[in-house]
Parts: sequence; structure tokens; C-alpha cells
Amino acid sequence: MNLKTTYLGFELPHPFVVGASPIAAKLDRVRQAEDAGAAALVMNSLFEEQILHHEAGLAEHVYSHEESYAEATSYFPSPEDFHLGPDEYLERIREIKQAVDIPVIASLNGTNLGTWMEYAKYMEEAGADALELNLYYQPRSDEETCEQVEGGLIEIVEKVRQSVKLPLAVKLSPFFSSLPCFVKQVEEKGANAVVLFNRFYQPDIDIENLEAVPSLKLSDSSELLLRLRWLAILAGRTQLNLAVTGGVHTHEDAVKAVMAGADAIQLVSTLLRNGLPQITKLRRELAQWMEEREYESLAQMKGSMSYQHAPNPEAIERANYLRILQSWDVQD
Ligand SMILES: Cc1cc2nc3c(=O)[nH]c(=O)nc-3n(C[C@H](O)[C@H](O)[C@H](O)COP(=O)(O)O)c2cc1C
Repeated sequence: MNLKTTYLGFELPHPFVVGASPIAAKLDRVRQAEDAGAAALVMNSLFEEQILHHEAGLAEHVYSHEESYAEATSYFPSPEDFHLGPDEYLERIREIKQAVDIPVIASLNGTNLGTWMEYAKYMEEAGADALELNLYYQPRSDEETCEQVEGGLIEIVEKVRQSVKLPLAVKLSPFFSSLPCFVKQVEEKGANAVVLFNRFYQPDIDIENLEAVPSLKLSDSSELLLRLRWLAILAGRTQLNLAVTGGVHTHEDAVKAVMAGADAIQLVSTLLRNGLPQITKLRRELAQWMEEREYESLAQMKGSMSYQHAPNPEAIERANYLRILQSWDVQD
């Protein structure tokens, strides 16, 4: 089965890519990912805060996993490995590039215009094949307007684009008043792909001790639905490559993502939970599923369920929504 796809200018044998996660923090994990057939690898992010040498910055609690998440402890590197400083991060890019042949996508994570953006250039110099820019921003002030928030983020994309020639993917949150318009601006600034979607750090509340509790739960397939909707809306409307991240656990999830319009499928939770051979399994099962339904290639299936291919998608959506609402009643 021809599962070939193009992402960020790379001809990939299939769409399964290791998403940004601690998997890239250990060289033997990276080699295992390549051996399992990963089409490409996104590194864990270098955070603005790490670069700006904040003592207890976002990086410490955004993906803090020690107490909150025991499920995949065997896959986690020690905190020292995970929270690499900027120089160590660049060194890690060089090491990974020497260790594997698959495309290596470095990840830069930040929200404010600043000197940290120079690291895009350093990542390029260190040999990264592409860059994923994670725009992790959660507005809290009622003084900051939507235009300011979005304008600031777009300026980061623009500045990073100007500083590197590397293929550039922008990882977004779903929280935009008009995502298609924002994506259009990302495209105009010269990015090559968008990655849908960031999962924000969502601390729980300990109601007895009145404390915010760090928590990081792995995803399940239900998270995919939000992504499917936006992939389906964006596919065909933008020239950017579309990558999905969030909620792909089975080959059926992968089929849905491709049908909605994804060019690449990033995997994290399912790899942390099941190990890296999961990549091999998903690839095999996807090919088998497609063979059984007489697809000839991934390209043939891509975007087949995007909104572009529906005659009147808005009407379908609202009509279905009303029907579903009316189908509920109190259990007797
Ligand atoms: C332990 C862990 C660490 C992560 N680290 C990063 C990171 O450094 N940068 C980033 O952009 N996303 C990071 N993510 C988010 C993932 O890349 C991915 O977007 C998210 O987990 C949703 O995909 P999934 O459903 O396949 O897990 C991390 C996720 C997990 C679970």
C-alpha cells in the first residue's frame, strides 16, 4: 500500500511522526523510534523560559510529570535529561542527527517577542531539518485585545521565518476566534505547516488543601474530534501542510485524520503508553485497512471527508447538531 505523504517538504513513507515529547530526550529512544519506522521525529521543546534562564519557569510545570503521571514512567527520562539548557539542546540536535537518518524537527516554544527567538537560527545551524514553533499562549489580562494577542503571535512567526530557511511548522492552540483567518496569516508570513493542536497545561484543584495540582493526562481518542473538525475546515483552504497532534491512538483514528485532511500524524500518548513498536503496528494496520477497502494510496484518501468535499457543510453541521440535541432525554 502506498502510504507516502509530503510534510514540510519531506517525502515521508507514511504519515506517522513522533510528536514533541521526552522521547527525543534519550538517544536510544530516538533510535528505537527510527527502528520502529517513524517517518520523522519532533524533539521536545526548548522553552522561552529555559532560554531566558528563569529559575522556575513554565517548562518546569507545563510538562511536569513526576507526581502526576505514573503510567509511562519507564518512558520518561530523568528531569535533568528533559529540561536541557539551550546549549545542551543544540548539542542534542547534533547527537540525534548523527544517530538517525529520519528528518529531525526541533521545537521552540514561546509566547513573547524576544531574544529566545534567535534559537531558531541556532537550531538550524545545529543541523535540525525543520522547526516546529509552539505558540503556547494563554491570555489572562482583560486589557489585552484579540488583535494584540494574535498580532504578537503572528509577529513571532514572522521573525522566526525571517531568521531561518528551515521548513517551519507552527503548533497552535484551538483557542482562536477565527482559526482559519489566523492560519491564513501564518501562511502569509511564510510558514509551511500548522500542527493542530497544542494541549494546554490544565492544573486540577485540590479542594481539601486548596492547591492547584499539576496534572498531565495522556490523551485518548475522544480528543481527536476537535482536531478532525478543524482539519476538515482547513483542508483545501490553505496551502499549508496540516499535521494532527492529539488523540490518535488507533489506525481508525489515523484514517479519520487523513480523511479530514492531515498530511502528517504526530503520535505521543499512544507511544508513551504502548511503546515505540506502536508505530509499526499503526502503519501495518492502516495499510491493511486501506487494502481491504481497495484504496490505492494515502493520497487518494486524503481530505476525502474535508468540508471542501461536502456540498453545504454549514447546513449539514447545524442540522446534525440540532438532531443530536433533540435525541437526548432524561433516563427513566
Ligand atoms: C510527557 C509529554 C511531554 C510533552 N512535551 C512537549 C513539548 O516539549 N513540546 C510540545 O510542543 N509538546 C509537548 N507535548 C505535547 C505533545 O507533543 C502532543 O501535542 C500532545 O501530547 C497531544 O498528542 P497525543 O494525543 O498523541 O499525546 C508533550 C506531551 C506529553 C504527554
